[in-house]
Amino acid sequence: MQKIREDYKKIENIGDVLLNTSNPLKKRFRALFTLKNIGGPYAIEFISKGFSDSSALLKHECAYCLGQMKDPLAIPKLISVLEDLHQEPIVRHEAAEALAAIGDQICLPILNKYIHDSSKEVSQTCEIAVQKFSNSIPSNNAPQNPYKSEDPAPPLPANSYKSIEDLENIFLDSSVPLYQRYQALFTLRNLGTKEAAIAIAKGLECGSPLFRHEVAFVLGQMQNAATVEQLTKVLQNVEEHEMVRHECAEALGAIATEKCMEALITYLVDDKRVVRESCEVAVDMCEYENSVEFQYANALLET
Ligand SMILES: [Fe+2]
Ligand SMILES: [Fe+2]
Ligand SMILES: [Fe+2]
Repeated sequence: MQKIREDYKKIENIGDVLLNTSNPLKKRFRALFTLKNIGGPYAIEFISKGFSDSSALLKHECAYCLGQMKDPLAIPKLISVLEDLHQEPIVRHEAAEALAAIGDQICLPILNKYIHDSSKEVSQTCEIAVQKFSNSIPSNNAPQNPYKSEDPAPPLPANSYKSIEDLENIFLDSSVPLYQRYQALFTLRNLGTKEAAIAIAKGLECGSPLFRHEVAFVLGQMQNAATVEQLTKVLQNVEEHEMVRHECAEALGAIATEKCMEALITYLVDDKRVVRESCEVAVDMCEYENSVEFQYANALLET
């Protein structure tokens, strides 16, 4: 009993950091990811309270974390966020994707319902999510996901392509269904090479905003400096959808070279709140990636 009380107190303290609007966003983000790593009902309870914030960026990240935790306890909250038309499309999209990540069949009717949502970001996410449920047979012999993320689609089976060019062709072909293009994207990512990252970066110039934002997200996971130029170009393009620019900013934060830092600092004052806040968080990511604290943790992992 004492132990449970102590655990709750610890989570409550981190939850307070997340929910206190006077804290800098970067601090609140670190608290959110700490709660995600702790997991369990109390962490879910605090993350769920994040949806009444005014920052779409923070709320969509709360949804992302709930999905990655893969705990069915978060389902009712995520459904209510998807159904709440006052929530921004980026938040509702991430709630739908999180429901698919948890992967409980109980979510299928609700995802089917929003396949015709007036927001394209939401409708396309639900379309992919529904297909994920019907294709849940694991692909054999496909290169495994080294990033440990629960993705919107599984990689393609190894016998369905012969070369990186084949994958690139599927990935970039606008006549191929979005779900399969996602599968080709994650297959390329799992190869983990510079060549694959360069092929993926070509996707920043095609498809729907949802597609391009997923491409940017994946480039952030790969952390390959060969894609910094393309990501920066998209962040600089104020005509581009804010969801795509947001994801490019976060990807630059993960790659964390000096050039990334320069680009991010420029857009800390962007007109779009979600872009400036992403840059703020991404600058913190850059600083962390280059910190002694991080280098030390990495060295420990390598030994
Ligand atoms: Fe996502
Ligand atoms: Fe997203
Ligand atoms: Fe995002």
